Amino acid sequence: MCDEKSLENLEKVVEGAVKELEEMKDSSELEQWRIKYFGRKGIFASITSSIPRLSSELRPAAGTKINSAKKQLTRMFEEKLNILQKKKSPEVDVNFTIPGIVPERASLHPITLVSREIVAIFQKLGFGIHTGPEIETDFYNFEALNMPEDHPARDMWDTFYLDEKKRFLLRTHTSPVQVRVMQKISPPLRIIAIGKTFRRDAFDASHSPVFHQVEGLMVDTGITFSNLKAVLVFFLKELFGSGVRVRFLPSYFPFTEPSAEISISCVICDGKGCQTCGNAGWLEILGAGMVHPEVFRKSGVECKNITGFAFGAGIERIAMLKYGIDDIRQFYLNDMRFLRQFG
Ligand code: PHE
Repeated sequence: MCDEKSLENLEKVVEGAVKELEEMKDSSELEQWRIKYFGRKGIFASITSSIPRLSSELRPAAGTKINSAKKQLTRMFEEKLNILQKKKSPEVDVNFTIPGIVPERASLHPITLVSREIVAIFQKLGFGIHTGPEIETDFYNFEALNMPEDHPARDMWDTFYLDEKKRFLLRTHTSPVQVRVMQKISPPLRIIAIGKTFRRDAFDASHSPVFHQVEGLMVDTGITFSNLKAVLVFFLKELFGSGVRVRFLPSYFPFTEPSAEISISCVICDGKGCQTCGNAGWLEILGAGMVHPEVFRKSGVECKNITGFAFGAGIERIAMLKYGIDDIRQFYLNDMRFLRQFG
């Protein structure tokens, strides 16, 4: 190595060194390689020591050549070292100073928030919480609610039927829960039921084929329309604030008699008239009435002097009024910008 020839072989030396480097598997092999080429008694030391023996014209060029070969190999050595260090076992590689990934904080859906608020209000009055199936039979959704087959009132709800014979359907309201509860529990009882309901409606700013309702039912001896009024006025004032005014108008539902439609003074304009209330100053918010004797009969409640009231309201509508949301579709679009506002 220590002669002129070895300088001519420099390229071969570099080539061999590069090849060996590529095959290195760990840092101890790499260290062996470093000693072999760059150690005190290594190949480059011996090549360098041969320079003085060259003729003076050859020396500068030889120096430059050796230096650039050394530089190239040193760079490749460092790169390899880097790669091998990264491959080391993960315990050694963990960097405890890197800031952690903060999980995104979820927020409750506005429908959940309003539902919980409604539940809390009725719990104050001693109402229990019940549920019923989303797939109902014709009996519970219509028949037991005093709407026999071909009853025109069935047209009040555009229904999703699940079979040709129209025996199964997606419940159009939560009122079937009234019947299910009365079949299981004998009076006195006071319950609410919250859940999904389905109607063959368009999907636009004010309609959705799926939405939520809250149903209420109170049955006991001597329950009167005054009890209905007291409970609903309390509920609406808790929900919308004590300043809200409540209006009862006569209405019709096959399963209540008498029936009422209940409105509150517009929460946006306080009754002065605006776009939200269609200049009426009132917002219709609940359907209600005294439980029809036929519903008691169909539910198996036959005791004397038993009366009751029932009511139903749309949760989306309540949420829209409470939060000032003008498009029902917002609830179902999963737009994070919308949902985050309820965090
Ligand atoms: N179920 C009725 C509806 O969906 C609301 C209602 C419930 C009315 C209970 C009276 C009594 O429109």
